[in-house]
Order: sequence, then C-alpha cells, then structure tokens
Amino acid sequence: MDGEMSFFMDTQVVRIDPDNLDHGALKRAGALIKAGGLVVFPTETVYGLGANGLDAGAVKRIFKAKGRPSDNPLILHISRAEDLDRLVAEVPTTASMLMERFWPGPLTLVLKKSPLVPDAVTAGLDTVAVRMPSHPVAMNMIYYAGVPVAAPSANISGKPSPTRTSHVVYDLMGRVDMIIDGGDVDVGLESTVAEVTGGGVIILRPGGITLEQIGEVAGEVFIDPAISNNNAMDIPRSPGMKYTHYSPDAEVIVIDGILDRVVIRIQQMAEELESQGKMVGIMATDQTRALYKRGTVISVGDRERPRTIAANLFAVLREFDGIGVDVILAESMDQSGVGLAVMNRLLKSAGYNIVRA
Ligand code: TXA
Ligand code: MG
Repeated sequence: MDGEMSFFMDTQVVRIDPDNLDHGALKRAGALIKAGGLVVFPTETVYGLGANGLDAGAVKRIFKAKGRPSDNPLILHISRAEDLDRLVAEVPTTASMLMERFWPGPLTLVLKKSPLVPDAVTAGLDTVAVRMPSHPVAMNMIYYAGVPVAAPSANISGKPSPTRTSHVVYDLMGRVDMIIDGGDVDVGLESTVAEVTGGGVIILRPGGITLEQIGEVAGEVFIDPAISNNNAMDIPRSPGMKYTHYSPDAEVIVIDGILDRVVIRIQQMAEELESQGKMVGIMATDQTRALYKRGTVISVGDRERPRTIAANLFAVLREFDGIGVDVILAESMDQSGVGLAVMNRLLKSAGYNIVRA
C-alpha cells in the first residue's frame, strides 16, 4: 500500500445491504482501512472516503484521491463513545450532553485534540472533529477497523457530496481500494459541525441536527458569522469563487423572495437565457414544478417536508450536470430547521449568486 499512488487503482465495488449486513465483507473493509487502504462507505449523511485516522500516510492519500487542499481538516469517525477519550484532551460537559442526545447521528463535535491525532487529520489545528455515525454499515466497518476512521465526503473536491453509489463511482472509481455500495443515504447533507471548546457551542456548519435541536440541549448556541452570510439575501451578487463549493459544472443562480414572484422571475430568466441559446435547468419544488413552462424542470422535494429537499439536493445538482444544462435556476428555501443547512449548501453551490425576485 506504500509508494506512489496511481489513479488507475483496481477498485473493488462491494454491495452491502444495510438491513442484512454481510459481516465478512465489513471485516475485510475494516482490515483494508487498518492496513492503510482507502474505502468509500455509506453514512446516514453522505458517503465518506475513509482511511486509518491514526496513520498520517493513509490520511494523506485521502487528500490526493479527492484533490482536497491539505489545509482543510478531516473528521474522525468512531463506533463507540468511549473511543473518543484517547482522541481529545478533554470533554466539556456540554459536549457530553450533546453526545448523549445526538450520537450516533449527524453531529460532529470539534474538541481540543490529544497528541495521538496526526497533524495530517487536523491540518495542524489544536482541535479535532469527531463524529459517531448511525449508519449500520459505517458503524460496523469502523468497529472492525479498530481505529478511528478519517473521512471527508467521498466526492472530488469542490463537487456536490455523494448521496448515491453512482455519484461515488463517477467521482472515485480507480482512485480508491474499495467502494461499499450501501444504497441511497438518508439525510443527504453532511453532519452539523459544532465547536465545543470554551463554555459555549458554535455551529461551524449547519447540517442534519438543527440549531433548534442543539439549543434544546445546550441552551445558548452561536453560529459562525461565515454561515450567517446566508442571511445576506439583499446582496444581489456576492463575492468570489473562493466560496464556491458543492458546485455542479453548470452555473447556479438562486432566486429569492416571495414564492409567487420567484416563480415569475425564474420564468422570465429562463426565457431570456434560452433566447441566448443556453440550456436551462429549473430546480423547483413539488408545490411549483407544474407552474414552469420552460427549461428542464426537476423538483428537489416538498416544501412542507424540508428533509425531503435535504435528501435530494446534491443528487438533483448532479442530475442537471448529467443532462448537460448550462445554468440552474434554483428557488430559495425556508431557512428554519434543516432549511438552514439546505440554503447554506445551495448558496455555496451558487457561489452566493442570488437574484431577488
Ligand atoms: O456528514 C459528514 O460530516 C461527512 C460524513 C462522511 O461523515 N463528512 C464530511 O467531511 O462532510 P468533510 O471533510 O467533507 O467536511 C468536514 C468539515 C469541513 O468543513 C472541515 O473544515 C470541518 O469539518 N472541520 C474538520 N475538522 C475541523 C476542526 N478541527 N475545526 C474546524 N472545522 C473542522
Ligand atoms: Mg466535503
């Protein structure tokens, strides 16, 4: 497993049914990780690209396989709460309460790290991100690996995170040792990342566990100002490409405002873009899909059930790329509950390109 990694690796694809676990295959995947290999595995949020989190060499191969900048730290995944102790310097009471309530599940805690954690994982920070996923395939594979599993989302850096096996195969076939096909994921957006170092809780990335849910346990919760940029809806076009992330090949434009006006504005924009010869995709919702008369219309889910939108968002962005549209016009979503995470990802995929209806 040492030496220069070529991108023409022999990638095994192994199907594991989450409802009928193949423990032999899970043990093989765990052993591969422990030995320094790269294994893509399903979690309840998105697919992860896993390696032995205590092996700096293996961790560096993750960055290479997805083309990720080395200054972006990774999450360590564990299968039992007690595995946390040797990875962190201390566990604040608030962190224990959050773990008690939300682990296993889509909550990542950023805590002061212990010396055991390699710098390659934390990008040299003095904190480490840890999470215990609830997906049975992830849990068992991590357990059999016997080491914390470092895993970013299993996409090529900058692309939408993978929520279906086909996404992973498209991005990483030939770049990893094994891909576990565990079917479609559940949440569809990455975990909530919360820093719990001083007294309080700061949300660094909104996700499947909502601000409201964390507030119920922790009392006061702060949001990283970088995320509150989501509220800068009145800025028509915002800064640069350095914020671009989760990006399909097509240009994404988010149209914000009262829903009736959003629909009208999208119709107008679609007409204008088509007259310029552009192929237009419209990211609609179940409530609005029938109202559009132009472009390729795909519903991302039901506005009354924002979790359906979270589950479909990345898949729909990738679907538009498969169709080959030039521009995706996306309706903005309500930001309460999981909507905060949905809008965070959507605005990033658009490079904060927002138009007010
Ligand atoms: O749901 C998820 O969290 C998925 C699945 C595979 O578990 N993983 C995931 O990993 O989304 P990744 O690498 O795509 O995103 C990890 C995020 C990044 O934004 C990274 O900057 C942040 O967590 N992060 C990791 N360690 C950190 C630290 N010590 N301090 C602050 N942020 C950290
Ligand atoms: Mg990612």
